[in-house]
Amino acid sequence: MVLRGDLRAAANAGITRQASASAFPGKITLGGKEYQKDNWFNVPDSIANSLTRELHNTPDHPISITRSIVESKFPSPTFKHYNKFFPVVSTHENFDSLGFPADHPGRSKTDTYYVNEKTVLRTHTSAHELAIFGANESVGYTCSADVYRRDAIDKTHYPIFHQMEGARMWDRRKAPGGNIVQAVWDDISNLPTHDMIVEDPNPPTHPERNPLQHGHSHDEAEAIAAHLKRSLELMVVEIFSRAKTAAIAADPNYHDEPLKVRWIEAYFPWTSPSWELEIFWQGDWLEVLGCGVVKQELLENAGVPSQLGWAFGIGLERIAMLLFEIPDIRLFWSQDARFLDQFKGVSSDLTSLKRYVPFSKYPACYKDVAFWLQPSSSSTTSAAGGLAPVQSFHENDVMEIVREIGGDVVEDVRKTDEFTHPKTGRKSLCYRINYRSLERTLTNEEANEFHEQVRAALARRLGVVLR
Ligand code: DAH
Repeated sequence: MVLRGDLRAAANAGITRQASASAFPGKITLGGKEYQKDNWFNVPDSIANSLTRELHNTPDHPISITRSIVESKFPSPTFKHYNKFFPVVSTHENFDSLGFPADHPGRSKTDTYYVNEKTVLRTHTSAHELAIFGANESVGYTCSADVYRRDAIDKTHYPIFHQMEGARMWDRRKAPGGNIVQAVWDDISNLPTHDMIVEDPNPPTHPERNPLQHGHSHDEAEAIAAHLKRSLELMVVEIFSRAKTAAIAADPNYHDEPLKVRWIEAYFPWTSPSWELEIFWQGDWLEVLGCGVVKQELLENAGVPSQLGWAFGIGLERIAMLLFEIPDIRLFWSQDARFLDQFKGVSSDLTSLKRYVPFSKYPACYKDVAFWLQPSSSSTTSAAGGLAPVQSFHENDVMEIVREIGGDVVEDVRKTDEFTHPKTGRKSLCYRINYRSLERTLTNEEANEFHEQVRAALARRLGVVLR
């Protein structure tokens, strides 16, 4: 990210094989609505069936509690809270409206779930910015929702997670003389202060690294950036003060350190200047959000050209994991009362928030799978007579197959070996899968059964040769 990186690692945009057993073309029902599939379709049944869970709207669920804590720093009526947007969106909403270039890696089928060529499961809550700015129902808003990305399997990555978007606008037509600078500074003077340590070494804009937008004055960008930074710092203070209170309650010997954050220059296609905010927490710098001054083109396209302001996006799982000290992202999907009962009553009384107490830790069961990638079917030897290029392959395809078969019984999947045969040029990969249930001890027989199915599916669906 931000929140798993808007600019994802330059993905190998190779051919992704069909992810679901369902054949196309045909129709698929997602969240009660019917969609036409085409050969872009790659939504597995396990994802299709989870669209209606809405953890962010489930009272006393840690994701929903986290949402409420963040929302409390963006109160109505200044901020309207949108929490009911449907997860299936157009590629225009998710990418084009935000200025994503046509070749942005985030658009690839290896990273994103497509229903058809023009329809995806939203990969971020920014997909709703155009619609919310256009509706123009309040000067600010937050929007929380489930988002979907094909990704690695480990304790902090899950193909469905939750984000909150937020924004605050000012209207040139409403400010005296069209000058919003004073209006923004007046609003800043009404915000509380805080005593958190903030590292912010860079100027508000920089001609190459973080440019001022055409049509914005330096003073406007500076004022909006100052309002943005103070507002988000106050949100972070709120979250981490609560996290600290819960940590001290759970452990009286808790080593208390002063809160510290830093602003990093960033790039997002629909904001300029842009930043990421990192927090120093238990010895590490953690990236918590992305934000920036919204590009005027987006506001013009939304039909509100006289407005300008800021927007941010934050990942709720990451925040919830450190608020409650939840060690594994799969737990959010658990229906086990030993998990859910620990948060009873917190939604109606946020001060009763307590750290999660693990109910038990079951043994891990590691299994390896090694395979050869097939030489590319189009050319087994290159024109120059050199070594054979390997087939299109993306690690996320392995992840998805393992997730489909093992479900939440898979804790993580890691590549443990990779080599290219010196003579044939064939490439071999080895992955180590950790089968461990959060809810019970898995027998070796059960793990073996999952693993045999995984091996067969890798060979069948990816065309790899098992070793
Ligand atoms: N959508 C971005 C992501 O998922 C996060 C984000 C960055 C949202 C900047 C924003 C923003 O509104 O201004 O990585």
